Amino acid sequence: MKIAMIGTGYVGLVSGVCLSDFGHEVICVDRDPGKIARLRAGEVPIYEPGLEALMARNVAAGRLSFTGDLAAAVEGAEAVFIAVGTPTRRGDGHADLTYVMTAAQDIARALTGYAVVVTKSTVPVGTNRAVAETIRAANPAAAFDVASNPEFLREGAAIDDFMRPDRVVVGVESDRAREVMAGIYRPLFLRDFPIVYTDLESAEMIKYAANAFLATKITFINEIAALCERVGADVKSVARGIGLDGRIGAKFLHAGPGYGGSCFPKDTRALARIGQDHAVPMQIVETVIQVNEAVKRRMIDKISDLCGGSVNGRVVAVLGVTFKPNTDDMREAPSLTIVPALVGAGATVRVVDPQGLREGAALLPGVTWAEDPYTAATGADCLVILTEWNEFRALDLGRIATLMANPRMADLRNVYNRDTAQAAGFTGYEAVGR
Ligand code: UDX
Repeated sequence: MKIAMIGTGYVGLVSGVCLSDFGHEVICVDRDPGKIARLRAGEVPIYEPGLEALMARNVAAGRLSFTGDLAAAVEGAEAVFIAVGTPTRRGDGHADLTYVMTAAQDIARALTGYAVVVTKSTVPVGTNRAVAETIRAANPAAAFDVASNPEFLREGAAIDDFMRPDRVVVGVESDRAREVMAGIYRPLFLRDFPIVYTDLESAEMIKYAANAFLATKITFINEIAALCERVGADVKSVARGIGLDGRIGAKFLHAGPGYGGSCFPKDTRALARIGQDHAVPMQIVETVIQVNEAVKRRMIDKISDLCGGSVNGRVVAVLGVTFKPNTDDMREAPSLTIVPALVGAGATVRVVDPQGLREGAALLPGVTWAEDPYTAATGADCLVILTEWNEFRALDLGRIATLMANPRMADLRNVYNRDTAQAAGFTGYEAVGR
């Protein structure tokens, strides 16, 4: 099948590359000529394990190409995916649909034969219908259907998530569109991955509900963690004890410094707005948003307490600033709240991150970037583990403790434990919820 993918951001690029790997002919489109030039040169603008090799393989096979020419890509395509950004709109928390609607208009003018226009971007309920109206208004003669096909990719595991999904959700309203979508995902269907067909609104809702539920689950365990600390319980044991109940499930119960990233913060805010607009306040989600902010602030207090009540004049070494490991993404990372607060309180902050420097340099003013954890820790008063990169999981803690001026650790991802830290020579150790 011939597929056009509009937008080569995270979702668009991963989806385009994976769909070409299914054997489809995929043309990825972006308005940014610099980005297209880099992609054509085989350069992947984001850090995602496995993506570069998969891209190269499909380009070499002649199934995957990149262009700035939307009309050429759309011509003859059976499906046109919209995978442009939907950032939070300034001021009101709504998803900004400018890019989606501009893409819809451009596609409308480029349509030649029947095509399904598929929205992959996360969009508020009702957007697919609005996309259909926009296309119809821009090109009344166009033969098309719309489909909603939300993505559930995790950064750092995106290819595996695309190739081995828990489910594929497809909102469609005509048999013809359903057939096209079935053709696109046939390789998954043939391997028994479930495909859930729904109406457009339900598909749109599934995406928000899934992300809000996951953000709630994380926030729930973070709140339980705070209580565990007070009552002397261990949140890791509690998470395991509840997670083995099949109705609860073991995943997404890691207590930490609060969720971040490109999806959960944006989508919870958007869902809260949608609820307000329809006079059905999403009270749980609104509370989750507030509690997550409080979780991040609680981490700042934890570090200060560990440093004897204030970080003023202290040297703090922060390991990991991306919102999670295996990504270079800094969007809404807890580090963006925690690190500036430390700097503002008078700490000298050194930062180490395997991928964070490129984006983080501008976002975290006033810090110094160290090459490795040992350099960062030398002479430091507190070591903070903020993102659980694998290379921070097997540190020579004894060596670090000797290098530090005051061997104290705020282990905000529960990578180590008190006994290990003390045995290595740390005089202070704080984790989350234990
Ligand atoms: C998420 C969803 O998982 C994905 O389905 C959706 O399409 C996009 O948003 P992603 O943002 O890549 O994916 O990251 P994810 O691995 O889900 O983690 C999100 C945040 O939650 C991170 O900040 C992570 O550190 C935090 N988290 C996750 C926890 O604090 N505890 C957990 O148990 C799990």
